[in-house]
Amino acid sequence: MRKNGFIILLILVVIIVIGIKGTEFYMERSKEEKNIQELLKEDAQPEVWIGKSKSQIPIGTPEGDLILYGYNLITNTSYYLGPKGTVAQITNGMNCQNCHLQAGTLPYGNNFGKVAANYPEYRARNNGWQSISARVNDCFERSMNGHSLDSNSHEMKAIVAYMEWLGKDVPKGTKPAGTGIMKIKMMDKPADPALGKLVFTTHCQSCHGPNGQGLLNMDGTGYTYPPLWGEHSYNDGAGMYRISSLAGFIFPNMPFGTTTYHHPSISTEDAWNVAAFINSQPRPHINQSNDWKDLSTKPFDFPFGPYADSFSEQQHKYGPYQPIIDAKKQAKNNVSLK
Ligand code: HEC
Ligand code: HEC
Repeated sequence: MRKNGFIILLILVVIIVIGIKGTEFYMERSKEEKNIQELLKEDAQPEVWIGKSKSQIPIGTPEGDLILYGYNLITNTSYYLGPKGTVAQITNGMNCQNCHLQAGTLPYGNNFGKVAANYPEYRARNNGWQSISARVNDCFERSMNGHSLDSNSHEMKAIVAYMEWLGKDVPKGTKPAGTGIMKIKMMDKPADPALGKLVFTTHCQSCHGPNGQGLLNMDGTGYTYPPLWGEHSYNDGAGMYRISSLAGFIFPNMPFGTTTYHHPSISTEDAWNVAAFINSQPRPHINQSNDWKDLSTKPFDFPFGPYADSFSEQQHKYGPYQPIIDAKKQAKNNVSLK
C-alpha cells in the first residue's frame, strides 16, 4: 500500500515538474516576442513595410476563416504537417515562421510583403514562371525538406489566401522596403567557419543546442527552438543554404528576442562567419540537376558548380564574392556590346 502511495506521489511530482518546465518555455518565447515588438516600436520607420497582425484577420466570414487557417499553417506548420501532423506528415517539423518571422510580417524578417504584388514571378532557378503556390512548394521541398502540397488542397488555398490578404495594399509590381532578406556589407575575404564556430558557441548554442539540433517542445509536435543543421534542418537546395541569404537573415534577427534590424546584436563579419559555419555542417541533400539551366543566372554564392565563370566552388560558397560579381557584370557588358 505504502509503496503504491509512493509511486503515485512520484508520478505527481514528475507531472508537476514537466508542467512547470513547459510553462517556462512558453513564457520565455512570449517574452522574446514581446521584446521584438518593443524594439520595433522604438525605431519604427514608416517607409519600411510591416505586415498586418492576426487580430486584423476578418474572422467569421468564409474568406477570413480561410486566411486564419493560412496564418495557423504558417505559424504552427508542424502541428498540422510535421512528423506527427494532424492533417498530413510531409515536413521536417519546422514552421514556416521559423524563417519567415512573425508570420511573415517582420521588416527584414524574410517577410511576405512583396509576394501578392509580384507573383507569378520569373525564377531562373526553376527556368520558368512561378505561381505563389509553386513558390510555397519550393519551401516545402527544400526549406522544410518535405513534400509539396496539391495546389487545390484546402491547406495550400489557405496559405495563398493569407499571403494575398497580407500583401493586398502593396501596389502591383512593387517591392516595399524591408521585404525579403537583408543584403549586408560584404567582406573582402572568405567567410571563415572556424571563427563562425566561436560565434555559434557564444551567441547561438544556448537556444539552438550544442549540435545545432534545436529543442523540441514537450509533446514533440514542433520546435521551441528550430534546428540549424542535421537531419531535421533545411536541405542543401534551400535558400538558406546560400551563405548570403543565411547571413542576411541572421544579422538583423538573431539572437532571437534581443535583435531587430535597428538593434543588431552581432557584427556583419560574425554573421558571415557563423553562416559559413552552419552551412559547412551536415544536412539533407536534394537532387538539383534540373535547376539553373542557364548557368549565367546562378547567384554569385551558389555553392554547386558548374558555373559560367572560372571561380572555384569553394570561392562561390565562402567568398570573397566581389570578384565573382564583377566578373558577372563584365560578362554581361561584353554580351551587350556584341
Ligand atoms: C529554413 C528556412 C525557411 C523555411 C522553414 C521556409 N522558408 Fe520560405 N523562404 C526561405 C528563404 C531563404 C527564401 C528566399 C528569400 C529571398 O531570397 O529573398 C524563402 C522564400 C519564400 C517565398 C517567396 C518570397 C518572395 O518574396 O518572393 C515564399 C512565398 C515562402 N518562402 C513561403 C514559405 C512557406 C509557406 C513556408 C512553410 C511551408 C516556408 N516558406 C518555409 C526560407 C524558409
Ligand atoms: C534566445 C534563443 C535564440 C538564440 C540565442 C538564437 N536563436 Fe536563432 N532562432 C530562435 C527562434 C525561437 C527561432 C524561430 C523564430 C520563430 O519561430 O518565431 C530561430 C530561428 C533561427 C533561424 C531560422 C530557422 C532555422 O532553424 O534554420 C536561424 C538560421 C537562426 N535562428 C540562427 C541563429 C544564429 C546564427 C544565432 C546566433 C547568432 C541564433 N540563431 C541565436 C531562437 C534563438
